Amino acid sequence: MSRKVVAGNWKMNLNYNEALSLFNSVNTISAKDVEIIVAPASIYLAEFSKCSGRVKLAAQNVSNFKSGAYTGEISAQMLNSLNVEYCIVGHSERRSYYNETDQLINQKLHLLLENNISPIFCCGEILKDREKGLHNTIIEQQLKHGLQDLTKSQLLNCIIAYEPVWAIGTGLTATAEQAQQMHSFIRDVISQLYDLETASSLSILYGGSCKPSNSAELFAKKDVNGGLIGGAALKKETFNEIIDSF
Ligand code: 13P
Repeated sequence: MSRKVVAGNWKMNLNYNEALSLFNSVNTISAKDVEIIVAPASIYLAEFSKCSGRVKLAAQNVSNFKSGAYTGEISAQMLNSLNVEYCIVGHSERRSYYNETDQLINQKLHLLLENNISPIFCCGEILKDREKGLHNTIIEQQLKHGLQDLTKSQLLNCIIAYEPVWAIGTGLTATAEQAQQMHSFIRDVISQLYDLETASSLSILYGGSCKPSNSAELFAKKDVNGGLIGGAALKKETFNEIIDSF
């Protein structure tokens, strides 16, 4: 059975005091059976990992190299040494602004899993491709190449996030039907690559202008197991309302 997850991707927002205050208040949210994850900027991870609470920590990025002379990079091993449990990989902002390819994303997934960190693997199509009716093909390719050579047990340690690029930070949300269609398609692809049981055990999150006014409708869909939230995760109230909308 896939579990319910709500993850906040803070992106490059919040100074130290703002981030600490938000982290502390999110850490006290009481929600029964929802896993809550927060991905602050990486420089805050060391400190936040010392605060116990109900929130799990994610990094927003990781190096595709193991260790060595890669100035400015952070390795999967380093994240593991801070007890970081998750790492976002394949986000469209990294794919487009930093030219991350499926192959590089796949290297990151393998390194994370070798270091006991669960990837939150993002996939999503741009508007032009949706308009041309190519969205399923694009997502299938991202899944096949991004998840290449992962064993079944490794895949079961991943979370998938479907984030249509045209919905990220734009205020345009995929309709609950569009999200359900794609999440069900993702499960079909995983089922073909692995098996039905693996596909139904995976948590698949929706991301892209998810907010309190639309989260309940999205989360009510059979194959939507939660959300990867950007803007609305930057305030405790809106993040909490989204968590409560299950
Ligand atoms: P918004 O919720 O701001 O659209 O961002 C979604 C996202 O990119 C989460 O990773």
